Amino acid sequence: MQKTSLTGVKPTGVPHLGNYLGAIRPALRLTEQYEGLYFIADYHAVTTERDSKLLRAQVYDVAATWLACGLDPKTTLLYRQSDVVEVFELAWVLSCMVATGQLERGHAYKASLDAGEAPNAGVFYYPVLMAADIVLYDAHVVPIGADQKQHLELARDMASRVNHHYGEGTVVVPEALITEAPLVPGFDGQKMSKSRNNGFSIFLPEKDLRKQVMKFVTGSESLEEPKEAKGAVWELYKLVASEAEQAELAAKLAAGNYGWGHAKQDLFEALNRELGPMRERYTAIRADEPGLDRTLEEGAEKARVIAKRTMQRVRSAIGIGR
Ligand code: ADP
Ligand code: TRP
Repeated sequence: MQKTSLTGVKPTGVPHLGNYLGAIRPALRLTEQYEGLYFIADYHAVTTERDSKLLRAQVYDVAATWLACGLDPKTTLLYRQSDVVEVFELAWVLSCMVATGQLERGHAYKASLDAGEAPNAGVFYYPVLMAADIVLYDAHVVPIGADQKQHLELARDMASRVNHHYGEGTVVVPEALITEAPLVPGFDGQKMSKSRNNGFSIFLPEKDLRKQVMKFVTGSESLEEPKEAKGAVWELYKLVASEAEQAELAAKLAAGNYGWGHAKQDLFEALNRELGPMRERYTAIRADEPGLDRTLEEGAEKARVIAKRTMQRVRSAIGIGR
């Protein structure tokens, strides 16, 4: 049996280059090796999102993004978390397997308290729903960024406790696959991030993409001077160019008479080669909401089959029902 890889994506709109190179692209590469289940965590977004129109639109944005980036819905399931209601039944069971103290130590919950906010119970319960997202589908590996490590440990804990009480094999204990994702730098050389506003959306029109690439900080050597291959432009180039192209760029920098402006042009071309076709696909896919609904519903139908099977096993193991 092929192992499954599952991950959830919060619907927060069109991703920036760091999200793409650091999370989406590596997760899609995993689908060559694993059976993929990728879902949009719309109910997780309800812990903070109060704008219903925006939430619905961002679910479409995210679905269209993953499809445009190459997710093949015939081989990888893509679905809305909310379309498989069994997840809430399992979340209840798992909540009975975790101590409140463990949830009180949750990073997100603690951070909200520390910020002087009054977190809602959904923020507190977030790791339980996330554990149910994973356990419901018998997921073997979960590709996540380092920030989600604690959530995965909690999920493993809850799953192990089910097996401890009701027998090994009742549920699959998932493993984290911490993506050794490259850190994608923003204009200022720091980690590209939404809050720092130092990056750009991957689907910008070509002209705007070029303008954005020209914004990256570089060394201040003169045109003639030989240059060392380092800094944000070089780091990014390594992520999108072939090895031969990288060697060529390094040689041009070392030879002198080649400025950082030229290097940015080369970077723009390499980026546009990868992002250009995705941008076009995104525009077409995003414009067709009924088509997206169909794809998501087809994914959900297959996901429900797995979910029902797991719930039958869990209910029977814990003594629920006839
Ligand atoms: P942001 O920091 O912009 O709010 P998120 O925290 O929502 O981004 O990250 C979503 C996913 O994208 C995570 O898996 C995260 O590890 C990845 N990611 C975000 N920014 C970068 C970056 N600059 N380099 C590599 N990966 C990134
Ligand atoms: N908590 C994850 C995030 O903030 C999203 C998520 C929800 C998830 N359920 C999941 C990730 C299950 C992996 C597996 O990015």
